[in-house]
Amino acid sequence: MNPTQPPLRIGLIGFGCVGQGFYDIVQRQPELGLTVTRIAVKSPTKPRTLPAERFSLQADDLLTDPELDLLVEVIDDAAEAFRLVSAALRQGRRVATANKAMLARHLPELVRLQAECGGTLLYEAAVCGSIPVIRTLDQYFSHEPLRAVSGIFNGSSNYVLTRMGEDGSDYGPALAEAQAQGFAETDPALDMGAFDPRSKAVILAAHAYGVFLNPEQVLNLGIEGVGAADIARAAAHGRKIKVVAGLYRLPDGCVTALVTPQLVGPESPLYAVDREFNGVVLEAEFAGAQFLRGRGAGGHPTGSAVLADVLALRRGLRYGYARQAAAPAVQLTQGLAVEAYVSHPDVGALREVLTWLELPPESLRTDEHGTYATGPVALEQLFAWRKELRANGVFVARLHEVPTAAAAAHAWAQGTAELV
Ligand SMILES: NC(=O)c1ccc[n+]([C@@H]2O[C@H](COP(=O)([O-])OP(=O)(O)OC[C@H]3O[C@@H](n4cnc5c(N)ncnc54)[C@H](OP(=O)(O)O)[C@@H]3O)[C@@H](O)[C@H]2O)c1
Repeated sequence: MNPTQPPLRIGLIGFGCVGQGFYDIVQRQPELGLTVTRIAVKSPTKPRTLPAERFSLQADDLLTDPELDLLVEVIDDAAEAFRLVSAALRQGRRVATANKAMLARHLPELVRLQAECGGTLLYEAAVCGSIPVIRTLDQYFSHEPLRAVSGIFNGSSNYVLTRMGEDGSDYGPALAEAQAQGFAETDPALDMGAFDPRSKAVILAAHAYGVFLNPEQVLNLGIEGVGAADIARAAAHGRKIKVVAGLYRLPDGCVTALVTPQLVGPESPLYAVDREFNGVVLEAEFAGAQFLRGRGAGGHPTGSAVLADVLALRRGLRYGYARQAAAPAVQLTQGLAVEAYVSHPDVGALREVLTWLELPPESLRTDEHGTYATGPVALEQLFAWRKELRANGVFVARLHEVPTAAAAAHAWAQGTAELV
């Protein structure tokens, strides 16, 4: 920091896990020249680690405070966050946010507001916590074609899968342990159902490919139906089950996006990303493959990414969204298929699932762990049946990474589809 420069005055909205983590990091580094001048929270009665007079219960007051140089929005309410952040951008303010659900739903509007009103929004903390993937895509790879951006974007589900693999335990006890350790929310639906990594994939698509996806249209399958038999079967083939969020450029130049469990082998760097860690593989046309691994959540790791944004805002950084001008067409499910692994503890129920997914009865296989099925499944079928699959505890995973044209997958399936 330039010693003649006055400290940058920050308005912090939200003082939970991330807000407190960010505050603590700022306090520990006075040499950065930052000061958290005002803090807004919601509850008037919650015990706080700072004196009560430090807090305001009106976040709107911070938006209009001319004494604040920039705002950090880290609340847990996506609708309210959108109202606050869009109001701040309308005033041309500089804002850092970590709210992935809000961003995934409203990114086009937020980008438009920045362009029209001159404000700036940075959100590195919203995707994979401490891993600097948004800026890497937006700034460093802004002009290099990307074949794929994929990875483990949710530490909670990864923790559950890792513990199941280590202990041979079932989903329920592993989830309970993750919750007890603070790695999974009390309501685990967003994380275990892969809604959270879907939001992150949508955000990355804007920077990696210049496309703004509607999260509701991106296929996301979670791990609520995974069982010890699935983990053991994958392990017997030298693989681990990971929830992989992927953005892929297809041979025809279109971009697709999906988030599903996947059987990952040791040839992938994601194989070694265990517990609460996140990992991102970037496959660039000329630079080749790169891999980023780090903590995807937690007060300090996420607060560190917010701090990086605050310092970048001070320097005047804005995201370039350079690929928007020549964004490719998007092909989400139509005409695409994956080689799928499907399981359910009840064989009768599994047979019915095969009819939903248009898999022939010969897709069923039996081993010492029970019965399962493999075969090519159209992404359109998975998308159409996603709610029933979730509600009925059916576990579906990709056997291979990249979706293929449905016709090619079905032709290939005339042979036998093995697990590996
Ligand atoms: N936790 C992580 O590791 C992590 C990682 C990446 C991104 N994020 C994102 O970061 C954001 C914050 O997450 P968190 O885990 O820190 O949440 P949290 O621990 O639940 O804290 C939320 C904070 O927001 C405050 N708040 C809620 N509504 C408010 C309002 N209308 N006005 C003012 N304050 C309000 C709450 O106030 P009270 O204290 O009064 O309740 C609380 O201080 C979320 O968008 C989350 O998705 C979190």
